[in-house]
Amino acid sequence: MEGSDLIDVLLNVQENDEEIGVSLSRNNIKAIILDMFLAGTDTVSTALDWTMTELMKNPKEMKNVQDEIRSVIGTHGRLTEETIEKMTHLNAAIKETFRLHPPAPLLRSRIYLRTVPVKLQYQPAYVSCPPLSVGSA
Ligand code: HEM
Repeated sequence: MEGSDLIDVLLNVQENDEEIGVSLSRNNIKAIILDMFLAGTDTVSTALDWTMTELMKNPKEMKNVQDEIRSVIGTHGRLTEETIEKMTHLNAAIKETFRLHPPAPLLRSRIYLRTVPVKLQYQPAYVSCPPLSVGSA
């Protein structure tokens, strides 16, 4: 579905539910869209705030990132996913920010739905896997 957005895809699934094998109610679609807004807004703004904070605390790296953005944009004219990949300083700054200040806990706890072997031991079904929550200090 070239040129289609998330809502187009969800409505298409709803309309062709028998063919696709998934049925989505109007409420399901509303919940998915709300989920996307909640998951995608606070996380991104927190990540941006911390990235700017860390760069302000490290003026040398701030200058590296600024120079890099100017040189890449100067060559390509506009920002695309491809040009962002070329920005190694910017990517490193964002990754370091995720390491220092993860906007959300990593590896939320999960429950095994069936007995599975993990590291040579069987984990019984319906037992919680230990969460490895990472908080930011
Ligand atoms: C800096 C930005 C973001 C961070 C740090 C982040 C972090 C996370 C984390 C840690 C999880 C849980 C992963 C897991 O334990 O399985 C998650 C799940 C999810 N995120 Fe993000 N997220 C970000 C941006 C977004 C955006 C922009 C969207 C959508 C527009 C989004 C949608 C979701 C959804 C739908 C899930 C649930 C996936 C699933 O359980 O199948 N996130 N995110």
